[in-house]
Amino acid sequence: MVTMSFHLMNPSIDWALLQQQARAASEQAYAPYSHFPVGVAIQAGSGKIYTGCNVENASYGGTVCAERNAIAAAIVAGEREFQALVVFTPQERLTPPCGICRQVIAEFFTPESPIASCNHLAQIQQWSVGELLPSAFTPLYLAQSAKVETRKLFDSPESSEPSN
Ligand code: THU
Repeated sequence: MVTMSFHLMNPSIDWALLQQQARAASEQAYAPYSHFPVGVAIQAGSGKIYTGCNVENASYGGTVCAERNAIAAAIVAGEREFQALVVFTPQERLTPPCGICRQVIAEFFTPESPIASCNHLAQIQQWSVGELLPSAFTPLYLAQSAKVETRKLFDSPESSEPSN
């Protein structure tokens, strides 16, 4: 199965390299519990590619997905904008990002950004961020309410004290 769209035609995104890098990253996955290796490659706004793999933990909740590890690697390198993300899993069923990763992706990518999943059979499927997480909660919402909250908490401290 190959799902193509105009995003895959964007000449500034090197899909072949992203797929190759995502596959290489999956080979470094630390997945002794799930045996489900995942690799991710991201093309950042600068054009540079960053990778991540899933890192599991004996305390299962400590596991971090490949998507979030790739984004963290790019963030610590100073990147703040991203063009495209590719997931690689050696599975016949192409793997989309999990729910938590979709939320983290929505923080840094635009709703139009392309997210692709590929496998060892050279199959590729693509979605936009908006398709994966419609009506996303983003920093835009926080900006307004944060101002209101700050005023309530700090501008009138006496109003939050018990009145007796
Ligand atoms: N995993 C990812 O790395 N990315 C996803 O989007 C799906 C899930 C990892 C987490 C865990 O190590 C393994 O796959 C099984 O859930």
